[in-house]
Formats: sequence, C-alpha cells, structure tokens
Amino acid sequence: MGLLDGKKAIVTGGGSGIGRATCRRMAEEGASVAVLDIDGDAASLVADEIDGVGFGVDVGDPDGLRRVIDAAVASLGGLSLLYNNAGVGGFSRLEEYDPLEWDRILRVNLTGVFAGFRAAIPHMKTGGGGAIVSTASISGTRPAAGEGPYAASKAAVAALTASAALEYGPHIRVNAVSPGMILTTMTKPMFEIFPDQEQRFQRDTPVGRVGAPEDIADVVVFLCSDLSRFVTGQNIVVDGGLTLHGSGVDTLFDHVYGPQSQT
Ligand SMILES: NC(=O)c1ccc[n+]([C@@H]2O[C@H](COP(=O)([O-])OP(=O)(O)OC[C@H]3O[C@@H](n4cnc5c(N)ncnc54)[C@H](O)[C@@H]3O)[C@@H](O)[C@H]2O)c1
Repeated sequence: MGLLDGKKAIVTGGGSGIGRATCRRMAEEGASVAVLDIDGDAASLVADEIDGVGFGVDVGDPDGLRRVIDAAVASLGGLSLLYNNAGVGGFSRLEEYDPLEWDRILRVNLTGVFAGFRAAIPHMKTGGGGAIVSTASISGTRPAAGEGPYAASKAAVAALTASAALEYGPHIRVNAVSPGMILTTMTKPMFEIFPDQEQRFQRDTPVGRVGAPEDIADVVVFLCSDLSRFVTGQNIVVDGGLTLHGSGVDTLFDHVYGPQSQT
C-alpha cells in the first residue's frame, strides 16, 4: 500500500530536478501524476516513465495554466494534489537588474504559484479537498547578496502559503517546502564555475553533503500524504541544516564581484 494510493496529482516544473524526482516518488506511492513543464518534451518523457500524462505550459501565464490544469484534471479524472514547483533563478547586483528580468523571475516564481492555486482550487473543492505544496527556498528565509528578486519571490511564496492555508482549511491543506542547496540543472553551473563550492557545502552542512532532488521529493510526498494531516500553513526547511550557519549562497557574491564588493 502506497502513501498516495488513489490520489491524482499535478506537478509543475516536473520535467527536471526536484519536480521530476517528486513525480517519480508520487507515482511509486500510488498517485496518478500529470507532469507540467514549459519544456513539453521533458514533461512527456517523465510522464512516459511513470505512466502519467505530460503537458507543456508556462506557469507564468495564468489563463494558459488554467486551460492546461483543466485538461489534466479531465485526463486524471479529478484532482487531489498540486505541487507548484516550477521556478527560475537569477544572480546580479540589485541596481543592475533589468526590470524585465525582475518581472520574469517574479512572474514565474510567484505569479506561477498564484496561478496554480487559482486553477486547481475549484477542482479540489469539487472533489472534497486536497493538499497543495509549493517550492519556496532557504533564499526566502535567509537571503544572500545578489539574489534579490529570487529571494523576494520565495519569501512571498511562504506568505502566500500561510494566507491560503487560512483561507482553504479544513478541507485543503497548504504548505511550502524550502530546499537548501540541491544539485539540479539550476545549481550545476555554479559548481562548474566555482568547484570549491562543493567542499564548502559539505563543510557547512551538518549532514555533510549537497542535497539530492529525492531529499526534497520525500518531504513533498509526506506533505501530500495523510502522515501530515495536522500540518498546514508551514514552510518546511529541507537543507541538511545548512542555514544554521547563515544563508545558502552567501559566499557567492564575493566570488562573482570580489571581496568588499558590497560597500
Ligand atoms: N536546486 C536548488 O538548490 C533549489 C534550492 C531552493 C529552491 N529551489 C527551487 O526548486 C524548484 C525546482 O528547481 P530545480 O532545482 O529542480 O531546477 P530545474 O531547473 O532542474 O527544474 C526547474 C523546472 O522548471 C521548469 N520551468 C521553468 N520555468 C517554467 C515556467 N515558466 N513554466 C513551467 N515550467 C517552468 C524548467 O523547465 C525545469 O524543468 C524551483 O522553484 C527552484 O527555485 C531549488
């Protein structure tokens, strides 16, 4: 018997990294999964692996996402779980951020989560309830220099989560997960450009390693399952203890811009 037997799940950003690992874990635990990603081919590949359905969509387009979620729900035969996970990063001095890039990060990371709620909640209400998890970040709770719009978008996801939990209880539970440093397509370039960072994360993370997508997927499955039936409105940090020391990428700004560059 699986933790998610009979559940019908939608995962955004499911074509890679944390989202892909979560689609696989959800399927292993008995859920039927719709994989959504801006990269429709990647979504289809993951869907094929887990006997799910794949869709290409930009979560930053609320009406487009609603159309795709409606189609996914029709295909799944209902909706019990939503994982708002699609996200994009960015790194620059704040005064050098192009406003268009600011808008893009906020549109995908924050508006994309709102758009997921907007599209999925009516279906969950019809089905009698459900659970929603969104990917925030340790950057939202312990921001570092150079990640202004990313950090702001993720802090906002945590606030939106708490507000939605108040609004939709008792039938829909709403939580966020805040990953620490996880090796995915998003973070790989940093380790390639600054190879010393891997040792730094091993040293500064109490569990002694960089995280894997499955480390987050397991917590998302927990938050979607009845094991977490008394948990709502929370932002669960899953970082191996990294932020006990400070923020996740607090040495990166000096690496990029040089020491004392913040003054
Ligand atoms: N990797 C980390 O260390 C880390 C840490 C904290 C938070 N996060 C968050 O975890 C989430 C997943 O990131 P990941 O590390 O797995 O990266 P990833 O790049 O491997 O996966 C992100 C996925 O989202 C998709 N995506 C991007 N923009 C989209 C859009 N507009 N619409 C639909 N899909 C879109 C991408 O195509 C990709 O498949 C993101 O929200 C990210 O901010 C990651």
